[in-house]
Parts: sequence; C-alpha cells; structure tokens
Amino acid sequence: MHSFQELIAQFIQQFDQQRFPDQPSTLYNAASHILKIGGKRIRPVLALMGNELFDTIHADAWQVGNAVELFHNFTLIHDDIMDKAPLRRNNPTVHTLYGEPAAILAGDAMLIYVYEYLNRVQSRYKQKIVSVFNRAAIQVCEGQQLDMDMEAMDPAQVKYDDYVSMIALKTSVLLAASLQMGAIIGGGSEGNQGYLYEFGKNIGIAFQIQDDYLDAFGDPEKFGKQQGGDILANKKTFLLLKALELCNPAQRIRLQQLLDTAPDDKVAQVLELFHDCSIDSWAEKEKERFQQKAFDNLESIAVLSSRKKPLMELADFLLSRQH
Ligand code: IPE
Ligand code: IPE
Ligand code: MG
Ligand code: MG
Ligand code: MG
Repeated sequence: MHSFQELIAQFIQQFDQQRFPDQPSTLYNAASHILKIGGKRIRPVLALMGNELFDTIHADAWQVGNAVELFHNFTLIHDDIMDKAPLRRNNPTVHTLYGEPAAILAGDAMLIYVYEYLNRVQSRYKQKIVSVFNRAAIQVCEGQQLDMDMEAMDPAQVKYDDYVSMIALKTSVLLAASLQMGAIIGGGSEGNQGYLYEFGKNIGIAFQIQDDYLDAFGDPEKFGKQQGGDILANKKTFLLLKALELCNPAQRIRLQQLLDTAPDDKVAQVLELFHDCSIDSWAEKEKERFQQKAFDNLESIAVLSSRKKPLMELADFLLSRQH
C-alpha cells in the first residue's frame, strides 16, 4: 500500500515525462503551459488508489491516471475561457497568453490525447473503462452548461438542491469515475465499485464547497486564482445561495443590489455580507456533512479497513486544502 503523498510523487515523476510534439509550437506550447504550472494531480491519484484498494497497482491504472489528468487540464483551459478567468495556479491562463483560438484548439487536441492513453489500457476491462470515462466526460459538459445557465439566472430562482446536482456533474463525477476506473482495474466487485463511486461523489461535493469557499475567502497567493472571481461572475456558489437564505431582509436587499449593480468594490462588499451572515462557518459544517456521507460510503466497502486509510488521508487533505 502507498500513502497518497507517495502516489502523487510517483505520478508526477511519470506524468512530467509525457511530451506533446514540437510543432506547431503555437498549439503545443499552449497545451504544455497548463501542464507545466502544476496542479494537485488528485484525479490520477484517485485512480491509483481505487486500484490499490483491491489489488496491487496494475500498469493500466497509470494510463487511466494520465488520461484523467489530461482531461481535467483540458476542461480547465476551456473553463477559464468560459469564466473569463485571468489566473490559474498562480499563472496567467492559457487563453490570456496564447489567445482564445489556440486555447480552444489546445484543449481539443488534449482531449484526443486522452483517448490515446485510454487506448493503451491492456486489460479485458478496457470497454468498461471507456464507458465509465465517457459517461463522466459527458456529465462534466452537462454540469458546465448548467453552471453557466445558473450564472444567468436570478439567484432566488436557483434551488440549493439543483446547485448540488450541478456540482455533482461538473466536479464530482470525474473524481468518482477516476476511483471507479481504478477499482475496475483492481478487480473490485460491482457493489464495491458503486460504494466507491458514491464516496467520490460526496467527496467531490465537499471539494467544490471548499473551492467556492477559497474563491471568496482564500489567500489568493496560495489559491492561485483571482480572488472573488465567482462573485464578479455572479456564480451561484454555495456561499451566495446560502447567504440569501440565512441573511435578514435588509441584508438580502443589499446583496441583491450588489449583484445587480456591480460597483467597483463589489467583492469586498459581498464578502462583508457573507461574514455578517456567518457563511464561512456554515460552509465548514456543510463540507463536513458531505465528508461524513463519503466516509459512510467508504465504510460500506467490503475490504479491510487498513486498506482504506490512504483514501481517508486524501479526503482530509482535499477538504482542508488552501489551494
Ligand atoms: C479545480 O480543480 C476545478 C474544480 C473542479 C474545482 P483542482 O482544484 O483539482 O485543480 P488543480 O488541478 O489542483 O489545479
Ligand atoms: C470548474 O469549476 C469545473 C471544471 C473545469 C469542469 P470552476 O469554474 O469552479 O473551477 P475553477 O474555480 O475555475 O478552478
Ligand atoms: Mg467554471
Ligand atoms: Mg472556473
Ligand atoms: Mg471555482
């Protein structure tokens, strides 16, 4: 068994050796940029851990790891265009450096490389892996569209449960599918795969609560993204939806005005209101609620509890992360 730190270190060493072709450099420099600036690499580690929960790590799990990390980075390039984000991992975003057309195309090329990695899977489970991956990939697209649809909606129209469903699609399913693909390679039963998938889904929701929290309250130096980017874009984050529910009528009117008028100090004013409504402590509790659900799912998996330790460590790391 490996700790998650060991798996991250091993994955990074292997992933960093992967190269795109040299030409056209305008295309591949854009694609390489996002890979060179780091990232936590948690999705491949989830695939490796999903495998190791049931058996020793098989070579196929590394190919799946490469595929999911590349896919994730492709979604980030396109997401940053959609979100008009200037910063990612403390660096200018791909479209800011290379322009939108090259950024779109670099993302497209990366998606095709994803399938090259999946095509290298040797085991008899290849078809199943591709279908689990494809389902998640389509759901990410659906979640991204719902996220943008909600951006355009009046916050009062967005129901909390619909927001959670959107998050499950745009963020959680890829974490869940990474775990499940690993479990398939490791020979986990269908039942155990299902529990592991649900674990990933609930961890993913808690992970997105932390992402929304850091977007508002995080230290921008550590978080590496523009502070208050979600507030500027009128994203219907966990924080905003809950603030509208918890605050008093006067605060609600002020919040609504801020969303409608967008003054220069919008971020500072919205954050002050979030503080006044104790949204930060609510977010902490809500994150713990989903983490507990995830741990209940993990509990149901029929393997020795000592084998589950790395997954629990990873969950703790993800949910207390500052970046
Ligand atoms: C960012 O994911 C996008 C979300 C789903 C919140 P990560 O926080 O895993 O991004 P990196 O890869 O570590 O930069
Ligand atoms: C992005 O969600 C999820 C995907 C890329 C599919 P966000 O828009 O919240 O991610 P960040 O905050 O830009 O990393
Ligand atoms: Mg987005
Ligand atoms: Mg974004
Ligand atoms: Mg975010």
